[in-house]
Amino acid sequence: MVRRMTARILDGKKLAETVRAEVKVRAAAFAAERGRPAGLEVVLVGSDPASQVYTRNKEKAALEVGIRGKLHTLPAETTEQELLALLDRLNADDAVDGILVQLPLPGHIDEQKVLDAITPAKDVDGFHPVNAGLLASGRPSLVPCTPRGSMRLLALAEAPLSGARAVVVGRSNIVGKPMAQLLLAENATVTIAHSRTKDLAALCREADVLVAAVGRPEMIRGDWVKPGAVVVDVGINRVDVPGEKNAAGQQKTRLVGDVAYAEAAERAGAITPVPGGVGPMTIAYLLDNTLIAAERRARG
Ligand code: GUN
Repeated sequence: MVRRMTARILDGKKLAETVRAEVKVRAAAFAAERGRPAGLEVVLVGSDPASQVYTRNKEKAALEVGIRGKLHTLPAETTEQELLALLDRLNADDAVDGILVQLPLPGHIDEQKVLDAITPAKDVDGFHPVNAGLLASGRPSLVPCTPRGSMRLLALAEAPLSGARAVVVGRSNIVGKPMAQLLLAENATVTIAHSRTKDLAALCREADVLVAAVGRPEMIRGDWVKPGAVVVDVGINRVDVPGEKNAAGQQKTRLVGDVAYAEAAERAGAITPVPGGVGPMTIAYLLDNTLIAAERRARG
């Protein structure tokens, strides 16, 4: 008989509640000391349904921990100049501690130009090149939320990182690259894999820590997972459920990660589910970053 392992499920929803409770205490202390709450401004351009959900959740989560959250919803036709003017205003506003522009932006707006326009001290996404450069130099400032949340999940798994082999699949500025930096800072031996990587399956099989951040549903198969490895699945992909319709007669869909969860859970030592893994942690660390930005700005 083949012995099957059953992975420990890393519950991001529950861990995010712990992080949010910690932030709530700090948010109250900040408000009492400064006579105003910490402020987070979230900017959405256009009406992408997933982005609408994410940004509403971010605003709501901020309000729940005592951060003054404000969502700016701008029409898809908003010009780059108009968006930059809003960011100028928010940069200059002393009651604003964190600014986040939801990605992706409509095609006529230069994403790089917009991210560069957010003052680094208020860049709670950690996407500004100054913050990316500080992280890469081992002098982290504001660190992207999803990699921070993923590292906390690895801590929950008590995964030994020093000397471990870590493979990060995906090289985005938002997740892959900063995640690799954080793992490196913990003395892991880090490989960043991507669409041109040769024999990705064999590479993944060597990973003690496997992080999937490619945005391709269930691409990482169960037999790519080294027995006992810790698997962090950053992907959130909506896929059709073949042959099933919802109550309104529309195609039924479900959320899946970048990892074939059921297969991978048979081999992994610990694994994050989708939904309920990395997703809630991203929002929790956005709130944490907002408090970090507010506290630093207050100290001057
Ligand atoms: N789009 C997908 N993920 C993110 C994120 O973490 N921050 C922002 N601003 N946009 C995103």
